[in-house]
Amino acid sequence: MYKILTAEQAAEFVNNGDAVSFSGFTAAGCPKAVPTAIAKRAEEFHSQGKDFKIGVYTGASSGDSLDGSLAKAKAILFRTPYQSTKESRAALNSGEAHYFDMHLSQLAQELRYGFMPKPKFCIVEACDLTENGEIVPTSGVGNLPTFCRLADYIIVELNAAHPKELRGMHDIYEPKDPPAREEIPIYRVSDKVGRSFVKVEPSKILGVVYTNLPNEVGAFTPLDEVTAKIGENVSKFLADEIRAGRIPKSFLPIQSGVGNIANAVLGALGDNPEIPDFEMYTEVIQDSVIGLMKSGRVKFASGCSLTVSNEKLDEVYSDLDFFKSKIVLRPQELSNNPEVVRRLGLITINTALEADIFGNINSTHILGTKMMNGIGGSGDFTRSAYISIFTSPSTAKGGAISAIVPLCSHIDHSEHSVKILITEHGIADLRGKSPIQRANEIIEKCVAPQYKEALRKYLASAPLAHTPMNIDTCFEMHKAFKETGDMRNAKF
Ligand code: COA
Repeated sequence: MYKILTAEQAAEFVNNGDAVSFSGFTAAGCPKAVPTAIAKRAEEFHSQGKDFKIGVYTGASSGDSLDGSLAKAKAILFRTPYQSTKESRAALNSGEAHYFDMHLSQLAQELRYGFMPKPKFCIVEACDLTENGEIVPTSGVGNLPTFCRLADYIIVELNAAHPKELRGMHDIYEPKDPPAREEIPIYRVSDKVGRSFVKVEPSKILGVVYTNLPNEVGAFTPLDEVTAKIGENVSKFLADEIRAGRIPKSFLPIQSGVGNIANAVLGALGDNPEIPDFEMYTEVIQDSVIGLMKSGRVKFASGCSLTVSNEKLDEVYSDLDFFKSKIVLRPQELSNNPEVVRRLGLITINTALEADIFGNINSTHILGTKMMNGIGGSGDFTRSAYISIFTSPSTAKGGAISAIVPLCSHIDHSEHSVKILITEHGIADLRGKSPIQRANEIIEKCVAPQYKEALRKYLASAPLAHTPMNIDTCFEMHKAFKETGDMRNAKF
């Protein structure tokens, strides 16, 4: 009953200046054929000297076919809420595309509130579509229910690489807006509160593009000594907290961030016999979780996407009944919802690019200016956590950068929200400590040996105050890196 379209025919509906929303979260669940065709259409327009750029709404980062191809084609007008491809990063750091980096739980409601232009289109990757407008997403949900409801038109990429039997793994629910909002009735990690599909008005569906395309989730770098040590320190900290009675013996659900370190930390938790079998209430479910589910270490995971390699996704799809009883995929408005995070008492573990001696965290900006990826869900989780942990290698770029500095060059998470900082050298417990106490704790426990003396000298040089800061020298390490390529040349 729906019109069958080629990707090129579908792309022809989209015009210069349109706001387009896409399903999925990370590269999981993102459409591939239609965005690639939109990028080709942009290139054709550009070759004729005509403008062609679209506004891009997604769940989070996306794959090469979406952010990658649209950025390469210089077809992005504005971008929100998160990105992580080389090409889109270059586009927004060169000023070619406007980027609005935001807490991932908030995009859906901010679109509903009318804070940003409503999407004209929603391009959806689905594993199943029924005549009455039931859309079953694939391995990532993102903001799909809100995008579909607000968009004037929907185009469905029906991707045969994902089995129809995924139906049942999703939990699709949209909260009402204030003043009518009620509590989100998730009281346990595994509670399901919505439907297993997104329901749309069939007349909004312009057509269906049939595809058979694999996910574009990148591989993780193998564990090295530093990431392994960070993982060990996190699991040691949590085991000590259980022993001290500050975390219940039955444990609490874990949220674990994105990237290589996050993946390694989870592996380490699984390996530590002092950590009980655990549940996850998290944003992305990464590779290491699949093995931990098979071994019984992870009992259940609620997330927004299965951001796993294709090899791991095959493992999931070949034992779907088992994994459907262990995984639920929800819109990010639920997976990252601060109300639920606070209620369930999550232990949140996210990665910092840079921390300062007072416990502020920079998750996004390289040396204060260049956007790396975005804040993602780290703020959604950190601010409402039972215990918020940030991890980071103590140095970057072969030791030429200290990840711990006198003052962060950009702040995403403030000293008020960050409870624990962990590097390969140790664990700084910031709870109940004044700024001066936190500075000493961080310098002595977490800083790399080659940077300890410099930071001690900096702290001693700062005029005594509640937060001792020397405004003449607080960016001396950043300046030294800019001028000499090495923070070790900073003089205090
Ligand atoms: N100054 C400058 N560069 C730094 C740096 C610093 N203080 N610290 C790290 N870097 C560089 C590294 O050298 C590396 O660059 P390279 O690729 O050129 O070698 C890069 O930044 C980070 O490496 P990457 O392998 O991407 O790290 P990762 O996979 O562990 O990811 C973050 C780390 C912080 C980028 C990632 O976790 C992120 O985007 N976080 C924000 C969003 C978030 O937390 N989401 C989770 C919520 S659920």
